Amino acid sequence: MAPSPRDLVARFGSPLYVYDLALVRERARALKRCITYQPFQPVFAIKANSCPAVARVMVEEGFGVDAVSPGEVAIALKLGVKPDLVIYTENNMTDGEMAEAMAQGVLINCGSLDRLERLGKAGARACAVRFNPDIGDGSNEKICTGGPMSKFGVHFTQVAEVLRIERETGIQVVGCHMHIGSGFLDATAFVKAMGVLLDVARQLPHLRFVDFGGGIGIPYRPDEQPMDLDALGQKASALMAGFADRYTGIHGRERTVELHLEPGRFLVAESGTLITTVTSVKTNPDSKDGARTVKGRTYVGCDTGFNHLVRPTMYGAYHRIDNLTSGGAPLTTVDVVGNICESGDVFARDRALPMPKLGDLLALRDAGAYGMTMASAYNTRPLPAEVVIDGDDVRLARPRQTIAQLLEQYIW
Ligand SMILES: Cc1ncc(COP(=O)(O)O)c(C=O)c1O
Repeated sequence: MAPSPRDLVARFGSPLYVYDLALVRERARALKRCITYQPFQPVFAIKANSCPAVARVMVEEGFGVDAVSPGEVAIALKLGVKPDLVIYTENNMTDGEMAEAMAQGVLINCGSLDRLERLGKAGARACAVRFNPDIGDGSNEKICTGGPMSKFGVHFTQVAEVLRIERETGIQVVGCHMHIGSGFLDATAFVKAMGVLLDVARQLPHLRFVDFGGGIGIPYRPDEQPMDLDALGQKASALMAGFADRYTGIHGRERTVELHLEPGRFLVAESGTLITTVTSVKTNPDSKDGARTVKGRTYVGCDTGFNHLVRPTMYGAYHRIDNLTSGGAPLTTVDVVGNICESGDVFARDRALPMPKLGDLLALRDAGAYGMTMASAYNTRPLPAEVVIDGDDVRLARPRQTIAQLLEQYIW
């Protein structure tokens, strides 16, 4: 029987990240099913959740890994992912990081012409190039990664330069990649960008794969609908099939170009919950703003903050919150706030919740993506523990950090 949140907190403490691996597995399989084009290689953007116990599910399901740093490459390799299934999507990497990735045998996905040139001159024989199709999307401008305001990728009109570097250095661009933004629920821009990317891909003679990136959103708000994944899969598959047939025509090769998709959020967001304990409840008296009366707010304070889940503060993101202890209490409009010494440490404003009381457990839902991976030790507060549930199996995946560990990092 699945343990109750109270049991989990009694065993592992609060605050606590909990991931449901069965849901991760289900999402991974849904992604594989939605694509009819073959060959298809699903890839996990491990930046969304790099907890090995979670990422291992994707590895078991045959996913490759999209890594964006030497640390993420290290996790992927330690999980046993074969280097040729690790794609290192660099942005502003150093020459040292490039040399290390080359030695590890992972495929570098170049985000600029100067990196492509240096990679070619350093003797790399194959790489991918991330293109900016001049189209961006995403649930927030901070996670829009295409278009003129984006620092990412080689502009799609610069293919001639890419071809020049191929000729001059002997490197072969085997992957044509884009990632235009994160968290979209409407695929209009994504579909348009796929078309632009495939026009680029047609001009590259050595392709092994085309990677449309990630970005599939999830319904964080109660009034949002999940994306029609099958419709998206059909569209991507049809576009890719049309491309592959013509690509064969131009280059006289078998239809072997792989399609890659590399979501993060879609695979793991809904599996994760941040459980927190209510540590303070206070209602301020009404105040005056000139002639206007400003209603006193009710603040529900928790034992976690934006150090553990930064999305609401950083992106204004919405996370559903459930009162796990007093679910039957009268609905009351409250602000749910954290324990970090910053005014911006707010999880939710004006949220109707069954009125929390001291000691209640709250669940911050859909926290499995960009939750713990974006967490910090700000205010010198240790990171929470991570626990995975897989059917009846409940396991600690990462112990709670201690203050002693934080202090040990310094030279005293
Ligand atoms: C290169 C790349 N690929 C894939 C992703 C995954 O995006 P998402 O979690 O929205 O699917 C990201 C996220 O920013 C990314 O930078």
